Amino acid sequence: MDLSWGDSTTRQFITNVGLITSDGVYGPNVMSAEWTYLIAYKPATLAISIGKDTATFSNIKENKEFGVSLCSSEQSVMASVSGAYTGKDVDKIAALGELGFTFYKAKNIGVPMVRLAAANIECELSQQIIFGENAVMIGGIVESSVSGKDPLAYHRGAYWTMNQRLERSSEEDRKKVREIVESHRKENN
Ligand SMILES: Cc1cc2nc3c(=O)[nH]c(=O)nc-3n(C[C@H](O)[C@H](O)[C@H](O)COP(=O)(O)O)c2cc1C
Repeated sequence: MDLSWGDSTTRQFITNVGLITSDGVYGPNVMSAEWTYLIAYKPATLAISIGKDTATFSNIKENKEFGVSLCSSEQSVMASVSGAYTGKDVDKIAALGELGFTFYKAKNIGVPMVRLAAANIECELSQQIIFGENAVMIGGIVESSVSGKDPLAYHRGAYWTMNQRLERSSEEDRKKVREIVESHRKENN
């Protein structure tokens, strides 16, 4: 089956917004990708799923490296601009600079990185898997840093902050849960 943007299932996901930075045939560029996920600690590995028709895909295909700046809750305008225009037509890095966002040169790869993002992660492309219109680009992490800013959340087509932590259940309730789970322990062979 196929799913579409905004249907009831896709609206249940809560994601980060990864600002995917690259350089190549279309020059320095940044695009938004909600499909950005850490997939392993050792070796530290990250996956992004991006349209094969994006400038970012062509850039990464050429230079085999990309940056992931996890959008902070103060950077929703950057997420919108990076996701609404293509680097085939617009110099988004220059436009975002004029809007007050700043970039720095990545330490270990040849791409710009977003200053004051919640986290900045530099990746070398290790694998690419095509799924229909999208390419899942898997990157080995070669550098990472955090700014202390809170990450932006993306849900139901809107931006959110993550500032309400659920109360922890009482010790009594947690004890009850432990007892029930323990009563279902499988016999060891
Ligand atoms: C919040 C947000 C999240 C997005 N997530 C993705 C994504 O995960 N994968 C994707 O291919 N496009 C995603 N897009 C759309 C791309 O960012 C958009 O197609 C962009 O213009 C591509 O830029 P480029 O051609 O300069 O690479 C998203 C857009 C927004 C606003």
